[in-house]
Amino acid sequence: MPGIEDYTALVNAELEKAVPENGGIVCDAMRYSLQNGGKRIRPVLALEFCRVCGGDIHSALPFACAVEMIHTYSLIHDDLPCMDDDGLRRGKPSCHVRYGEAFALLAGDALLTLAFKTLMTAPLPPERRAEACLLLSDAAGYSGMVGGQELDLLNEGKKVTAEALRETDALKTGELIRAACLLGCIAAGADQKQREAAAIYAENIGLAFQITDDILDVTGSTETLGKPAGSDEENGKSTYVSLLGLEKSKELAAELTQRAVASLYVFGAEGGFLSELAYALIQRKN
Ligand code: IPE
Ligand code: IPE
Ligand code: MG
Ligand code: MG
Ligand code: MG
Repeated sequence: MPGIEDYTALVNAELEKAVPENGGIVCDAMRYSLQNGGKRIRPVLALEFCRVCGGDIHSALPFACAVEMIHTYSLIHDDLPCMDDDGLRRGKPSCHVRYGEAFALLAGDALLTLAFKTLMTAPLPPERRAEACLLLSDAAGYSGMVGGQELDLLNEGKKVTAEALRETDALKTGELIRAACLLGCIAAGADQKQREAAAIYAENIGLAFQITDDILDVTGSTETLGKPAGSDEENGKSTYVSLLGLEKSKELAAELTQRAVASLYVFGAEGGFLSELAYALIQRKN
């Protein structure tokens, strides 16, 4: 069974080849943001779900890279002055700080389109690639991550209900995580039971992931996070921490993680990695 380092090495090597060197300033900005040491959680999830559903992880690698490209684009745009206005990302100056706003915007746009091209190169039957394409576009767009970012901005400076926050987080963060898990299932030709388990796991870790991100924004340091601590408060963001406080937020993240892990029984002993990963994600330091 491959470990997390094997998966990230595989993904990093593939991403390294995805954008040309010396391709101009937009390519430079894309490479800068793609290759600067994200945790690669989404591609790891895609590859591991492919494996536990009996697929060949190499066939899922383009799907895994596609979701990481969309995630990276979302971070470039999320950091822009018109959004969260954050100057540090993955321990380095944010893309717009290094390349200027206009080129950062274009690098994000180009990563989004490259993601769909990459997805289409998967050595899989065309029906599976088509299904992956539909799933990822819904998860990334107005009904998914972008829709969540919209709500996140509209919530700024307001006291929103727990239900509204749940919806925001499920979209802005949950949808790409859910897509990652289901892309792995699609690559493997998983059955309905496996897909349902993957969806429940993903929805629960997705929400726990954003709650933990919000907790770290308060408890972490800029140095360990690699992005500015305290950004949420500065921007008047509505988060679980601002609504429930730190302790209740930690409890909720733990509860969601237990629910995620419970769904893995479908995979038997093969689900061990995903179970450990779920717990590790709420204990992470960045
Ligand atoms: C940060 O995601 C943005 C959220 C959706 C919370 P990650 O914590 O996965 O960021 P990287 O990819 O490791 O930098
Ligand atoms: C993640 O939320 C939003 C995205 C979909 C990119 P945050 O705005 O909290 O992410 P960080 O904390 O800047 O990584
Ligand atoms: Mg944001
Ligand atoms: Mg942000
Ligand atoms: Mg955050």
